[in-house]
Amino acid sequence: MKNRIFTLLLAAACTLSLRADEGMWPLVLLQKIQDPMQAKGLKLTAEQIYSINNSSLKDGVVRLMSKQGRMFCTGEIISSKSLFLTNHHCGYGAVQELSTPADNILTNGFWAKSMTEERPANFNIGLLRKIEDVTAKVLEGININDEEGPRTKALGDKQKLVLAGLKEALGDAKNNYVVEISSFYNGNQYLAMYYEVYRDIRLVGVPPESVGKFGGETDNWRWPRHTCDFSMFRIYANEANSPADYNVANKPYAPKHHFPISLKGIEKGDFSMIMGYPGRTTRYTYSEGIKYLGGKERPMRVQVRRDIMDIYEEYMKADKNIRLMYSDKLASIGNYWNKFNGEAHDLSKPGLYEKRKAVELEFEKWVKANGKSDVYGEVTSLYDEAYLKLNQYGLYSVYLQDGISNSQPMTFAMNLIGMPEMLNDKKTAAIAKGTANSMAGGLDEMFKEFYAPIEKRVLASVLRHLYEDLDHAYLPAYLNELVAKNKRDYTKIADMLWKKSIFTDKARMSEFLKKPSASKLAKDPIYMITNGYVQKMSVDLKPIYDDINAKMGRAHRLFQAGMLEMNADKALPPDANGTMRLTYGTILDYNPFDGAHYNYFTTAKGIVDKYKPRDFEFDAPTELIDMLRNKQYGQYADPKDGELHVCFLSDNDITGGNSGSPVLNGNGELIGTAFDGNWEAISSDFMFMPDVQRTISVDVRFTLFIVDKLGKAQNIIDELTLVK
Ligand code: ARG
Repeated sequence: MKNRIFTLLLAAACTLSLRADEGMWPLVLLQKIQDPMQAKGLKLTAEQIYSINNSSLKDGVVRLMSKQGRMFCTGEIISSKSLFLTNHHCGYGAVQELSTPADNILTNGFWAKSMTEERPANFNIGLLRKIEDVTAKVLEGININDEEGPRTKALGDKQKLVLAGLKEALGDAKNNYVVEISSFYNGNQYLAMYYEVYRDIRLVGVPPESVGKFGGETDNWRWPRHTCDFSMFRIYANEANSPADYNVANKPYAPKHHFPISLKGIEKGDFSMIMGYPGRTTRYTYSEGIKYLGGKERPMRVQVRRDIMDIYEEYMKADKNIRLMYSDKLASIGNYWNKFNGEAHDLSKPGLYEKRKAVELEFEKWVKANGKSDVYGEVTSLYDEAYLKLNQYGLYSVYLQDGISNSQPMTFAMNLIGMPEMLNDKKTAAIAKGTANSMAGGLDEMFKEFYAPIEKRVLASVLRHLYEDLDHAYLPAYLNELVAKNKRDYTKIADMLWKKSIFTDKARMSEFLKKPSASKLAKDPIYMITNGYVQKMSVDLKPIYDDINAKMGRAHRLFQAGMLEMNADKALPPDANGTMRLTYGTILDYNPFDGAHYNYFTTAKGIVDKYKPRDFEFDAPTELIDMLRNKQYGQYADPKDGELHVCFLSDNDITGGNSGSPVLNGNGELIGTAFDGNWEAISSDFMFMPDVQRTISVDVRFTLFIVDKLGKAQNIIDELTLVK
C-alpha cells in the first residue's frame, strides 16, 4: 500500500501544470516537484531545501509549541545567534503574559537593546531533525478493511509501541525530543517526525499592538491589509548547543541555517515559496459534511462565539486593564469566529457541495466499473449514516468546546469532575485531597484573567445557548429544571449561580480546595451543570459518538485510498496534518469579485488612510504616522517606486499553523512573513481555489522598518544578513 501510494504520487507530481498549484507538499516529495518549481523561478535544488545529511533551508524553520507540546505556529531563524521571526499573533499570548498594567508591553511594544534585556517567553520551539517512514511498522498485520472497532484498537496499540521504540532508540537524547507519528492520506501512510525541542526561548522584540494587530478583527482575513504582524524571539541552548531549561547562563543556539533577508523587493510573477507547519485541512470532506458544516455547525459556532466577543469587547473598550486581561482570549475566539462566519456563508451557497458531489459520483462510478466494490463499496453509505447522526448530535461536542470551555467557572468545575466519587472512596480520598490542595496553590494563576462582571454574563450566554439550541433530552436534568423554574431568565439564573457556586469566587474556591467536601462539590450548581453535561456526553451520547467516529474514520481512509488509486496519474497532495510542508507559487494579484481588481501589494499610504486615533482597532502610534507622512523610509523603501511596501499577496497554499512562516524568493532569501489568508478563499481548507486563493504576508522591509525606525533597535538590524 505504502509503495503504491508513493509511486502514484511521484508520477503525479511530475505532471503538474504551470497554473497555481494546490499542495502543501511534504518534504519527502520535494525531489519530485523540483522541475516545476525551477520552471517557476526557483534557483535552488530540492536538496538545498531539504537534505537528509546536510544542513538545508528546513533547518531555519522553527515549529512553535506550547509547553505541553501542542504545535501552534511557525517561525524562521534570521541570524547566526538564532534570532527568529514569527507573527505578532503567534507571540501574542507570551507577550500578554509578560505584560502588567504598569509595564504593558503588549500595548507599548518591547525592544531588547541587548541580550540581557530579553525576557523568557512561555513556549518551546521544535527543530525538525529527521523524518522516517514507519508505514510498514504501523500497519503490520493491519488491513485496510478490517472490522473497524478492533482495527482502531490494534492501530492505537501499534502506534504506541512503534513510538516507544523510536524514542528508546534515541538513547539519552530522548528527553530533548518530541517524536510524532503523523498519519498521511487519512491513515494510508505514516511518517515519524523527530523534533529537537528547545525550552529556553526569549522575547527580543515586538511592536505595539496597534501596529502588530493594526486593523484588528475588521481587517482579519481580508485584503487590502496593513498589519505589521510580527514578533521576534531567540532560542537559547546550553554549552553543548543542546536544549536546556531556562538559565541565565545559557547561550544563543547556533543554528544550522539562518535566512538571509532580501531588501531588493518583489514583483508580480516572481517565484515565492513558503515552508512551515500547516495544521489541518479537510479537502476531501464529503458533500454531506459540507452541508452539515455550512448549514448548521458553522452558523451555530459563529453565534456562540460572537455573543461572548460582544461581552468581552464592551468591557475592554471601557477599561484598558480589562483590555490587557482579555486580549488573548478575544483574539483566539475572534480569529475563528471570523473564519467560521465566512465558511458558513461559503459552504451553504451553491458550488462547493455540488463540486464535492460530482467528485463522489465519479468515484462511485469508478468503483463499480473497476470491480472494486468489495474494498470501496461502502464509502457512501458509511458517510451518509455518520452525517445523519452528526446532524442530530454533533453540536453537543461543539458546544463543549465553544461554549462551556469559554466559561471560566465552568472550566474550573470541569477540572474537578469525578472528585466527589474519589473523596467518598477510602482508597482514593487522600489522592483527591492532595489534588485539591495543590490546585489551591494555583488559584492566583487561574483567576489572573478573570473579571467577574464579564464572566457572569458569559455564563448566562453559554447557558442560554445550551438550552435554546440543543435538544433537552441530552442536557443535564438540573439545567432543564433551573431554566423552567426561572422561565428562561438566564441573567437571573447566572446571578443565582454566581452567589451559590464556589467556582465564581477565588476565596470560596480556595476555602473549598483546602478542605474539599464531596457533598459540597456534588451540590454545587455550576458543578452539577458542567458534570451533568459531561456525563451525558460520556454515557448517553458515547455510543453515538463512537459510532460516528468509527464510520467516519473508516470512510475517510477508504475514500482516500480509493481516490489515490483512481487518480494514479494526478497529483493528490495529502491534507495538512501539522507536519512541515512546502508550497510554491508566484507573487500575484487577483479579482475578488466582478468588476474589481486587487493589487498584489499595499503601501504605508494605506495605514495613514485607515488610521483612526484612539479607535479599538485602527489606532496607531502618532510617531509612526508622522514618519509615514514624512516618508522617512531609509533603506526599506522599494527600489522601484520609493514607497514603503507593507503587505503582499502570493498564490501559495497555506492554512492555520503556517502563521509566521518564511516567504522565500527563488534564491531562498526571506521576502516576508506569512500571516493570513483572504476572504474570497476563506473556505480554502475545504477546497483549493486557484483563481482567488492568496496568502497574505508582511513585507520583510516593513518589518525591518518598524524594528529600526520605531523600535530604534539597531542591535537587531546589525545581527541580520541583508541582501541589497
Ligand atoms: N487570520 C490569521 C490566521 O489565522 C490570524 C490573524 C490574527 N489577527 C487577528 N486580528 N485576530 O492566521
